[in-house]
Amino acid sequence: HFPFRAHSNFLYLSGFSEPESMIILEHKSGKTKSIIALRPRDLSPNRGSEVWEGELVGVERAPQFLGFDEAVSIDEVDEFLKTKMAQHSCVFWEFGDFKNWDSKLIELSRGVRNYRTNEAIHDWSDPSFALHEMRKVKSSEEVAIMRKSAEIASRAHIRAMQLIRPRMYEFEIAAETERVFKKEGASGPAYNSICATGENACTLHYVSNQAQVQQGDIFLMDAGCEYFGYASDITRSFPATGKFSQAQREIYSVVLGAQLAAINAVRPGVAWNKPHEAAVKKIAEGLRKLKILKAPMKKVLKERLWSKYMPHGTSHWLGLDVHDSGKYFESDKKPVKLRVGNVLTIEPGLYFRGDDRSVPKKYRGIGIRIEDDVLVTRQGHEVLTQYCPKEIEDIEALRAPRL
Ligand code: GLY
Ligand code: MN
Ligand code: MN
Repeated sequence: HFPFRAHSNFLYLSGFSEPESMIILEHKSGKTKSIIALRPRDLSPNRGSEVWEGELVGVERAPQFLGFDEAVSIDEVDEFLKTKMAQHSCVFWEFGDFKNWDSKLIELSRGVRNYRTNEAIHDWSDPSFALHEMRKVKSSEEVAIMRKSAEIASRAHIRAMQLIRPRMYEFEIAAETERVFKKEGASGPAYNSICATGENACTLHYVSNQAQVQQGDIFLMDAGCEYFGYASDITRSFPATGKFSQAQREIYSVVLGAQLAAINAVRPGVAWNKPHEAAVKKIAEGLRKLKILKAPMKKVLKERLWSKYMPHGTSHWLGLDVHDSGKYFESDKKPVKLRVGNVLTIEPGLYFRGDDRSVPKKYRGIGIRIEDDVLVTRQGHEVLTQYCPKEIEDIEALRAPRL
């Protein structure tokens, strides 16, 4: 028994997550009919699947419950598909992700000929490209769910900021964060929570979460939840003692400046990587101001000298998947433009390894990333994760003694 989570394209089209289900969209004479194949209800005493695993929607109720035109039992879907294939010459099927079905579908189509034209299925196409582009533009219903996902994750981060103390273990913070996710109604983390104290923050995909927090550490937490299938993705970097040191403040301010500049660049019609460029400019300026990079600005940008300290991009699409589907570049290699309804992360960072002699000693071992989830709106943008504090004063205030 493993936890089941429907494929994101399936969830997108149905909002339904019972295993052993299939969506069939039949396009005929200019009309599309939606059909869901799913497990039949089975309440027979002792052996019935519903006795063991709980209530199923079932074939009879599916059209009304799920909004499909028609429903068919998954046990009868082979014959059903065969009949349908005799009426069409083109099948869209996402090869690769549902492996046992790949060969089965081909097998079912073998020898089947259109009873009118005598044509076999001669056109196999992949629907995922179209679906991925559709998923990139969120409807208002999807936005409402993503707002909630972002809100739950924000609460979890606030909790972690309040709780952290030197001598705690990374996994304690991870556990508390994920407890908040579930308590607030999320199904759980949307990805492995990264809870990295001190220099561990410099390992970008740090997930072991076993180390003990030391006095003076900055704790980098990259954690988001899944709510009705939709991911949030937040990173905050906060001091274990509740107060930033001077050196930490300096780095943090550069990253925050870069993040705010990037968020400001988010609006419809601009290239999706414009925010990254805005962030990079601020990161480069900051690195020069802190005397970590000494070359002239032009050279810093041209030779990407900043990338040693920020080795990742600033954004990815966000939605049903954390790194959501949808293209970033047109076929002519031009970056795609942001559209109203796109959701992307904005997550610049700076990482100075403890053994990196190219940076002043006081900065070594500091890793900071700040990540928010941003919706492109007609007016520009909405930061879905806006209730998660990130200004230095606001983070410190969470731990200030109450009067
Ligand atoms: N948590 C994964 C990412 O930020 O891309
Ligand atoms: Mn991210
Ligand atoms: Mn993240």
